Amino acid sequence: MSVTLAFDVYGTLIDTHAVVSKLEELIGDKAAEFSQTWRDKQLEYSFRRGLMRQYQTFAICTMHALEYTCSYYKVSLAPEQKDQLLNCYKTLAAFKDVKDGLRRLKVANYKLYAFSNGTAEAVENLLEAAGIRDLFDGVVSVDDIKTFKPDPAVYSHLLHKTAALASNTWLISSNPFDVIGAISCGIRAAWVQRSKDAIFDPWGVEPTIVVDSLEQLQQKIGEP
Ligand code: 2OP
Repeated sequence: MSVTLAFDVYGTLIDTHAVVSKLEELIGDKAAEFSQTWRDKQLEYSFRRGLMRQYQTFAICTMHALEYTCSYYKVSLAPEQKDQLLNCYKTLAAFKDVKDGLRRLKVANYKLYAFSNGTAEAVENLLEAAGIRDLFDGVVSVDDIKTFKPDPAVYSHLLHKTAALASNTWLISSNPFDVIGAISCGIRAAWVQRSKDAIFDPWGVEPTIVVDSLEQLQQKIGEP
């Protein structure tokens, strides 16, 4: 039976901080900090909505997080400028190791899925814009079941949608909360640590493997 690799999208395949250059144009030298707060708040809103069972799409979490971040940094952006930033978020670039890394895994016959908090439509468009959609067998979105990572239900949904067994599936993610979420559901997980400064949560749950780029995956996971 072939091995399924489920890739987290935002922050793993797609660089959420690629908005920084647009932010620099709009707000100057606070752009990098602004981008980090925006991303942290976006995830916090998804966690809270999941817990409260008050699902709204990830795009809504992103929009509300942008509003919060503008207030936090006392930045006043016109509605068109906010739209520009949110549009940027729909066509963010992939990290530079992604295309070759995925190609290699596809040629080696792994089943590749994008698995995301984003809606299927948002993820399809994002992967298309990044020029990597054709490398995937499919997209699995939490939107189908109206909750967010790391709710255990989303990892069960992944197995259901891909018709795969947990024992033949790996989650590939740069987000420690996602790695811990998958492992807690019996799915092995690779943590993609692109920066040595990235910290894994000290919960006593370790990633099955750690890689610093997608290009190391095949060697560390083994044959499909
Ligand atoms: C994703 O699901 C968590 O942002 C991450 O794509």
